[in-house]
Amino acid sequence: MKDIFGVEGKVLLVTGGASGIGAAAVKIAAASGAKVCVADVDLQAAEELARQVDPEGRNILSCQVDVSDDRSVTAMMAALVERFGRLDGAFNNAGIGLGAVESAGRKAAEVREEAWRRMLDVNLTGVWLCMKAELRTMRSGAAIVNASSIAGLSAMPMSAPYVAAKHGVVGLTKAAAIDYGPAGIRINAICPGYTDTPLIGHVGKERRSDLAARKPLGRFGQPDEIARQAIWLLSDNSSYVTGAAFTVDGGYSA
Ligand code: NAI
Repeated sequence: MKDIFGVEGKVLLVTGGASGIGAAAVKIAAASGAKVCVADVDLQAAEELARQVDPEGRNILSCQVDVSDDRSVTAMMAALVERFGRLDGAFNNAGIGLGAVESAGRKAAEVREEAWRRMLDVNLTGVWLCMKAELRTMRSGAAIVNASSIAGLSAMPMSAPYVAAKHGVVGLTKAAAIDYGPAGIRINAICPGYTDTPLIGHVGKERRSDLAARKPLGRFGQPDEIARQAIWLLSDNSSYVTGAAFTVDGGYSA
């Protein structure tokens, strides 16, 4: 594939890279000539994707990480730097949906404390831990993209811990963009709408049709439609963009 995305030769990290939006980003980046670290808590899936994308493994590294665990994140970065020597861009995409933790999808005060903490640990603290490790290695010209959601810009019922975490990602992104702009490092967030991935597997058929009908484009997003926005934000094509939160939702929140 021609490098229409402008990431050829860059060293990119994608967390949660083994599935859905992350996997689509890994495929686009690798096909565009980037060196990619596909990091995921599911090592087997990460290895499988790596083999599929680059069977000789020349420009890909698969790595197991739990983004909510500082030591695990530090080990991931060490492996990446040992293999590729630097980091030019990171897509902090790993996340869990409301279906992943029991009681998370209830009214705010009915969510159990361990569910609240898990959702925040993975979806918000995980982004911060990754940024902390990435920013120690990154140099001027590097870029970070954090996965927020339309739930990071407005709320929906029965989703307080997810909404709180994703709003937090937008705030963290803006604050860090201000802190690291002077160092030449850009930091942005993407806010996808409903996208066809395993993360929303718990959303029933009827609710899906209802949600799709509420989108001006009349359908859910496909993972590569979200991933393209993330890769653009990691490329030099977006060199004047930082501290922004981009909605990619088929017009749902228009
Ligand atoms: P997905 O479930 O297909 O992929 C998420 C990946 O993250 C999986 O491979 C999973 O193993 C990994 N992961 C989960 N916990 C992890 C951890 N602690 N450490 C490392 N990896 C971990 O989900 P999808 O839809 O591709 O989601 C990607 C991001 O996009 C998430 O942050 C999600 O919140 C966000 N998003 C998704 C939307 C959707 O409708 N699918 C809408 C808005 C935002």
